[in-house]
Amino acid sequence: MAMTAQLKLDDKEYSLPVIVGTEGEKALDTRKLRADTGYIAYDQGYGNTGSCESAITYLDGENGILRHRGYPIEQLAQHSNFVETAYLVIYGELPTVEQRKVFSGRLRQHAAIEPQMQAIFQGYPKDAPPMAMLSSIVASLAAHYPQLATNDFEKDLANFDLAAAMAISKIRTIGAMLYRYQNGLPYVPPKDIPFCDNLLHMMFSELYQDYVVAPEVTRALNTLLLLHADHEQNCSTSTVRMVGSSAANLFTSLSAGICALSGPLHGGANTAVMHMLQSIHDEHDDGTRFIAAAKSGSKSSRLMGFGHAVYKNFDPRAKIIGQACDDVLTKLGINDPLLAIAKNLEQAALKDDYFLSRKLYPNVDFYSGIIMRALGIPVNMFTIIFAIGRAPGWIANWREVAANPKGRIYRPRQVYAGPVKRDYRPIAQRG
Ligand code: CMC
Repeated sequence: MAMTAQLKLDDKEYSLPVIVGTEGEKALDTRKLRADTGYIAYDQGYGNTGSCESAITYLDGENGILRHRGYPIEQLAQHSNFVETAYLVIYGELPTVEQRKVFSGRLRQHAAIEPQMQAIFQGYPKDAPPMAMLSSIVASLAAHYPQLATNDFEKDLANFDLAAAMAISKIRTIGAMLYRYQNGLPYVPPKDIPFCDNLLHMMFSELYQDYVVAPEVTRALNTLLLLHADHEQNCSTSTVRMVGSSAANLFTSLSAGICALSGPLHGGANTAVMHMLQSIHDEHDDGTRFIAAAKSGSKSSRLMGFGHAVYKNFDPRAKIIGQACDDVLTKLGINDPLLAIAKNLEQAALKDDYFLSRKLYPNVDFYSGIIMRALGIPVNMFTIIFAIGRAPGWIANWREVAANPKGRIYRPRQVYAGPVKRDYRPIAQRG
């Protein structure tokens, strides 16, 4: 028998259906709450609101579990790579040899940025914030490829395979171009090589001399991107779904996701972590001052890279990335003082009651910056790398919205807390 929950309001009883997910997650179905009772559910920040049913990623924050399409993140990080995981996240199954060949082929075929699009870069100052540039250049894909971005779900889904591959590949190329542009270097066209090697090649090769990529560098970049591939209904992914729910095309929706990711509490946190570690290093502090400031409760002095909106145990990605960080630094023979500071900070915070009682543990961003630094990626590119990694998750979520025949436009309600009705007074009477 279907489960229900009883709700008593103003002496009347209502029955709310219960939805149970495939992993046993339970939700009260409040879709008819307002129509039946006149009440809405209040949930500032949506922390208790299931905004959709999704078959992409399962996340259990209390137990530190993350699975894509059923596969544990630990297994994917160990055995898969970014491109294969991207396929899994988007299409729901690990690819066959043939599917993998076709998908990789599309990524390689659509990696280049046409001269007309290259010209867009010239319109920005050299020191423009990279995420602002990325979001607007990705939005411009809808203008450059209008046949793939019609704002008609049926037509856009018919072209989805091409648009998705283009988006993943070109966001990566645009990211590399941003780096070159900001450093006054010319565009390096992509080569017919694997995804991560190509990113490093486009960033670091000189026009006539190829950057030789060490295998451990490619592996570390693959792990980093793979760990970011999707993360359920976070701020940027929900933004992509929300924009997509208006039938906006894939590229436009991705651009909105990039804007959401740019904030320091979301994708910008990896940059903030590096600034924090660098300040500790420059001040010859052991982190005590930062920990004390973080405990003040002020949002502006939080310990960056700590805490998570849903992980209240540990972030499984942080464990993998902490290990990957150690591995790549050892293999490359790098002795980064910031790694020692990060480890000290982690140890100190994990012994401190303030952090323990609030269940604040390191998140994925705590160590990702140190890896990127070891790969030669500058701090202002960190969130761009996060965006390249997250593209498959955004794309998969957009597709779920577009393909849902019963989908509605996202339109939350609010509890109005402003002035009650009052009458307009002409300016002369307002004093
Ligand atoms: N340092 C110090 N105190 C913190 C921190 C922190 N990093 N994070 C949360 N708190 C405190 C907060 O002040 C509050 O204390 P109190 O109960 O006394 O008011 C309590 O912990 C709960 O905080 P919250 O704001 O309710 O937590 P949240 O779940 O809404 O916020 C967060 C999650 C990630 C925005 C927050 O932990 C934070 O700002 N962390 C630092 C930024 C960061 O590392 N962000 C990257 C997140 S991982 C990347 C991703 O997946 O997007």
